[in-house]
Amino acid sequence: MLNLTNDELLTTTRAVRKRLDLSRPVELEVIERCIEIALQAPIPPVMKVHFIVVTDSDQRRALADLYRRGNDQVAQVRDQAVTSAWTEQATLTKILSSAQYLADHLQEVPVYVIPCIEGRSDDAPITWQAGIWGTIFPATWSFMLAARSRGLGSTLTGNHLFFEREAATILGIPYEQVMQAALIPVAYTQGTDFKPAQRRPLGDVLHRNRW
Ligand SMILES: Cc1cc2nc3c(=O)[nH]c(=O)nc-3n(C[C@H](O)[C@H](O)[C@H](O)COP(=O)(O)O)c2cc1C
Repeated sequence: MLNLTNDELLTTTRAVRKRLDLSRPVELEVIERCIEIALQAPIPPVMKVHFIVVTDSDQRRALADLYRRGNDQVAQVRDQAVTSAWTEQATLTKILSSAQYLADHLQEVPVYVIPCIEGRSDDAPITWQAGIWGTIFPATWSFMLAARSRGLGSTLTGNHLFFEREAATILGIPYEQVMQAALIPVAYTQGTDFKPAQRRPLGDVLHRNRW
């Protein structure tokens, strides 16, 4: 376990891509413990979350191919969006280079964790959408925090979801009943020192009593 305070854990759990150690195996029991911790997130009794842990190299390669196809789809939109974003250009260049690295090397990451939830939110009203995503993502984030505290790095990714049905076939997921929320590549990190990210200043986001 890393020696991090709660605040350090919460402010330094970054999207890790280039600093994933692709040659070091990850023990399955460590992943399982992180999932047990994730299950302590606020999950209402009606919600049924699942985590698929993928270590099989053929399945990882097939999912990585889907991911890259999705990545190509977002690339153009993303490049337009980032040029108008508030973040400094140097930071954006770094993020894009990091994202491309992950796309190029995804099949080499030793473990993928795919958080899923029973039920589909396609065309659902906002309350059901909130229930679905508000259940699976806190649990997913808890998983990522638990992983970071054990020296593991991860990134929340969704590019493969452009082809969710094909991914469901690869993973044996009953697509009509179960929705995938993300694909989390997980590996030990090269070094464990990560810094807080550049974010909008508090004054831009904090509203007192009204918008
Ligand atoms: C729903 C969702 C999907 C995302 N999909 C991807 C993805 O497919 N690939 C990727 O490299 N980053 C993806 N990201 C971005 C990263 O997870 C992360 O939020 C971003 O790189 C900022 O990381 P940082 O907080 O460490 O700076 C996604 C983020 C969200 C919220």
